[in-house]
Amino acid sequence: KIPAEIGCAADYETLAQRFMAPPSYDYVAGGSGHDLTVAANLAAFARWDIYPRLLRDVSAGHTRVTLAGQQFAHPVFLAPVAFQNLAHAAGELQSARAAHAVDSCLVSSTLASCSLEDVARGAGPQRWFQLYFQLRREDTHDLLARAVKAGYSAIVVTLDAPIQVPSKRALRAGFRMPADCVAANLRGYAPAETAPAAPQHSRIFQGIMGSAPSWDDLRWLLAQTTLPVLVKGVLHPDDAVALRAIGVAGVVVSNHGGRTLDGAPASLDVLPAIRAATGPGFPLLLDGGIRSGTDIFKALALGADAVLVGRLQMYALSVAGALGVAHMVKLLREELEVCMALAGCATVDEIGSGAVLRRPGSPC
Ligand code: FNR
Repeated sequence: KIPAEIGCAADYETLAQRFMAPPSYDYVAGGSGHDLTVAANLAAFARWDIYPRLLRDVSAGHTRVTLAGQQFAHPVFLAPVAFQNLAHAAGELQSARAAHAVDSCLVSSTLASCSLEDVARGAGPQRWFQLYFQLRREDTHDLLARAVKAGYSAIVVTLDAPIQVPSKRALRAGFRMPADCVAANLRGYAPAETAPAAPQHSRIFQGIMGSAPSWDDLRWLLAQTTLPVLVKGVLHPDDAVALRAIGVAGVVVSNHGGRTLDGAPASLDVLPAIRAATGPGFPLLLDGGIRSGTDIFKALALGADAVLVGRLQMYALSVAGALGVAHMVKLLREELEVCMALAGCATVDEIGSGAVLRRPGSPC
């Protein structure tokens, strides 16, 4: 049942504190280090205002988008979020059902607590698979082949998290990953831990980064599949341009919700430069800090084609399972439609950079 207090999508964030164990809530809400980037993601949206426009005919309006050759009813995607059984016993299966019910594209995580095959059975036709490179190429290949077989229609390879950076907030709250939070997709694969470095070696450079993915690995991946491959975790325009040049089908402008490099810029702040560098027509998705339909509008105005929602998904899941996630997406979509209508935009293509205004006095 949806609690009566939920009046907007962001209310799920507040209410989830009553439904999740405090350490789990802190683990989801927190970022890496001191949460500088978590805060930056949210603050970035507040620096933009939206221009209302008068007397525009939006009576034939809609929110449809086409991305990587695929049509979507609206640009609100469910971000890959690991271990959803932290929020609900049947985590990913509930999110998958929700995505299906509200025509949202589900991006299912490699680190899901249910297998990608089980998620696919509950999901709608619009499902993408988020891939983490595995230590052994044959394991990555196997994961990819399973995703293709299970009918995922695009691969989103996440490249911004070769190092797990602990969250101080989660540590302070006493969070420990519960024993039943295991990556169901990775059973039988080589564990991610790398061999201990020699005494004179750096644990980071020669240890963890010694087996991190490279441009060669990405080129290899592109050669293994005919599915569109998008890269998630792009913040620098030069990376976006280089990725486009090697045949990547699109990028997700993202700092992993502030969970990797603490001090990385807000995704929204780098979006215009990435759009300018890649030019029109190259699929750009954005995540990080999306809490409302007006946030989505701002992201679309500044160059995104669609957005992904991370934490709100976990919060809604904890409050009301599949129903909560479906309701949260429905609210976001309707908030976006209200915003489009009042800004005089009948379609997402009409949401240009002229639809938003840098708030006076905010730093450039
Ligand atoms: C994530 N994110 C993530 N990304 C990814 O590519 N694979 C993953 O397995 C996960 N897991 C994960 C777990 C949790 C608890 C969170 C909060 C996030 C990052 C996610 O896809 C997305 O980039 C951010 O969550 C977007 O920011 P917001 O919407 O949470 O502000």
